Amino acid sequence: MSFIVAIDGPAGTGKGTVTKILAKKFKLLNIDTGATYRCVTLEMLNKGVKLEELDKIKEILENIKIEIENTKEGQKVFLNGEDVTEKIRSKEVTELVSQVSSIKEVRFKMVDLQRKMAEGKNVIMEGRDIGTYVFPSADVKIYLDADLEERAKRRFLQNREKGIDINYVDVLENIKQRDENDRCKEIGALKLAKDAEVIDSTQISINQVVREISQIIINKKEEIKLEKKIYKVRKETTWKRFLRNIIKGTLAVVYKIAFQVKINGKVPSEGSYILCCNHINYLDAAAIVLFNKRKVNFVAKEDLFKNRLLFWLGHIFDAIPIKRDMQDIEAMKRCLKVLKNGELLGIFPEGTRKGLEKNGKAKNGAAFMAIKSKAKVIPIGIHGSFKPFSKVYVNYGEPIDLSNYSKEELDEATEKIMQEIVILTKKED
Ligand code: DC
Repeated sequence: MSFIVAIDGPAGTGKGTVTKILAKKFKLLNIDTGATYRCVTLEMLNKGVKLEELDKIKEILENIKIEIENTKEGQKVFLNGEDVTEKIRSKEVTELVSQVSSIKEVRFKMVDLQRKMAEGKNVIMEGRDIGTYVFPSADVKIYLDADLEERAKRRFLQNREKGIDINYVDVLENIKQRDENDRCKEIGALKLAKDAEVIDSTQISINQVVREISQIIINKKEEIKLEKKIYKVRKETTWKRFLRNIIKGTLAVVYKIAFQVKINGKVPSEGSYILCCNHINYLDAAAIVLFNKRKVNFVAKEDLFKNRLLFWLGHIFDAIPIKRDMQDIEAMKRCLKVLKNGELLGIFPEGTRKGLEKNGKAKNGAAFMAIKSKAKVIPIGIHGSFKPFSKVYVNYGEPIDLSNYSKEELDEATEKIMQEIVILTKKED
C-alpha cells in the first residue's frame, strides 16, 4: 500500500524546497505536479500554439511525454525525452502556465498522469489540488501558506539565484494573478482540504516548516503502524483457546463477586447469531462474553485497542475493531466472516454508551449484517446500576429473523431490534 503526502498551497510558499527535503528525509518519490503543467505550457510555446487553439492543444496532449526523475542532483523534468528542468522555469512559461492549467482537457490529462506516476509508490506530491482532487484520501495533507509580499520576495530571490531576469514588481504581479486564477479554476482550484493541516510560513524558517511537517508525517506513520497491528487478524490456536478459557473463567468469578448476575434465556448451542444488546456500561459486554458457553466476537471501537491490556484481551477474545466515524468496510468484512463461520457476533446497535437514554439514532450495522448474512438477531436487554454487589440483569430474547427485510428497509429492521431490546431491559425476574 502506498503512502501519500500532499503539499498544496499558492506559489512562493516554499513548497518546492520543503518537498525536496522531506522527500529525501522520508525516502519518498518527489512529484512536482506544477512541472507537468509547465511542460504542457513549454510545448505550446515551442509549437506556437495559443490558449484558444483547443484542437492543437488536444493534439499536443495526445503525443506529449512527460517524465520526472529523482536524481542525486535533484529532480529532473523531461519533455519528450529532452531535459527541460531549467526551461520550464522561464519567465514566458511562468506567465502562461496558470491559464494553461485551467484548460479542462489539460487538467484531466495531467491528473491522470500524476496518479499514474504515484501508482503503488510512496510519494510526496506538491501542487494546488493534490489533497482535494488528485489524492483526496492522501495520508498526510499539508496546506502551506504565506503572505503575498513574502512569497513574491522569496520567488524574486530564487529567480535571481537561478539567473532568471525578472524584477520584484513583475514577480509580485505575476504571483497575484496566478493566485487569483489558481483559486478560481473550474476544476482543481486551489482550496483548503477540510482535513489538511495549515502551516503559515510567513514568520517561520524553512527548517521549522520541515520540522513541523516531519512530525505530522512521523505521527501518521505511527498511527498507520498501530492501525495495522490493531486490525491484524490473529489465528486461533490451541494455546489461545486455552488462555481464553482460563481468563474467561477467572474473570467470570471476579464478575460474580462484584455483581449479582441474573441471566434469563440463552443462546442456541450452534449456528451464527448476532447478539444485539443495549449499552449502559463498559462492563456490560463482559457479562455477555464471560457467561456464554460459546465465544462471542464483540465489535468494539478502535480506540479501545490503543490500550495495551484491552488490545491483548481483544486479541484473545477475537474482538473486532471498528472505526465509528466512517463506514468501516474492513470491520464489516470481518463481521460477515464470523457469521459465515457459524460463530456469534456481539454488537451494540446504539453505537455508544447510553445511546438509548440520549435519544440517539441506532446504527444500522447489525441489521445490515443480519440481512446480508441471513443470521438471526438475538436481542439482549441489560440493566443494572453496576455499583459493587448490585444486581445486573442480562435478558436474552427470542431470535429475530430479518431475512424478509430488504437493504432498503434497514431503518425498519433496526427499529424492530431496538424495540425488542427495550422490552428486555425492563424484565426483572
Ligand atoms: O507550483 P508551480 O508554480 O510550478 O505551478 C505552476 C502552475 O501550475 C500554477 O500557477 C498552478 C498550476 N498548478 C495547478 O493548477 N495544479 C497543480 N496541482 C500544480 C500546479
